[in-house]
Amino acid sequence: MEKMVSLQNIVKSYPMGRGEKLEILHDISLTVEEGEFLAILGPSGSGKSTLMNVIGCMDRFDTGEYLLHGHAIHQCSDKELTAIRNQEIGFIFQKYHLIGTYTVLQNIIMPLLLRGMSQKEAEQAAMPTIEMLGLGQRIRHKPGELSGGQQQRVSIARALVGKPSILLADEPTGALDQNTGREVMRLFEQLNQMGHTVIMITHDLGIARHAHRVVRIVDGRLYQQGEDHLS
Ligand SMILES: Nc1ncnc2c1ncn2[C@@H]1O[C@H](COP(=O)(O)OP(=O)(O)O)[C@@H](O)[C@H]1O
Ligand SMILES: [Mg+2]
Repeated sequence: MEKMVSLQNIVKSYPMGRGEKLEILHDISLTVEEGEFLAILGPSGSGKSTLMNVIGCMDRFDTGEYLLHGHAIHQCSDKELTAIRNQEIGFIFQKYHLIGTYTVLQNIIMPLLLRGMSQKEAEQAAMPTIEMLGLGQRIRHKPGELSGGQQQRVSIARALVGKPSILLADEPTGALDQNTGREVMRLFEQLNQMGHTVIMITHDLGIARHAHRVVRIVDGRLYQQGEDHLS
């Protein structure tokens, strides 16, 4: 199996003013293979979103090496990072991050337009994904006219259209009721069975159990262990 993500000894801090820094991620090493469904489980404030922003190439880190699908992220310029992020990562957020004034269709095809596709090409390319997610009847609606579960499916469609090598989800069920959250997890399982590499970040053990491997993050340190050790 090909390596999708290889983080080695990643340290990340935030500036605190007066030249001081607060270290949030301490010496994080993690490998994710193509086709894996991994959960990163940790309590609030443990550094999950900070780690997601590093994995998703949205944020830089202080030291360490990061290989993403063959790209040496630690050596990339900002411009290269933006391109790699658009090509390689499909983001799914707790609060969907949809644009409220855009239709469902406009939201979903956005990553394709950013790549320079025409409106028409983008719509055609997105249609199979829109149908697969059962959103065909909703494409002219605004996100605010949809239920939470439907809005999350729109954001999943947006994450999928660009055929990224990784789906990266931060608390994807955090804003949903239990049943809708379970449906979204079933969808993640299906997408993983179709071959998508999924990295999901959550504070919820019940949600993490849907993944095939779980690593824990506590106070910015990663602990790798088998699922049987989860409690
Ligand atoms: N931009 C920032 N500047 C300073 N500190 C931050 C910033 N973002 C997050 N932190 C701090 O980093 C720690 C981890 O935050 P975060 O990654 O959001 O945790 P989680 O997603 O697990 O709740 C927290 O102590 C938080 O206050
Ligand atoms: Mg978070």
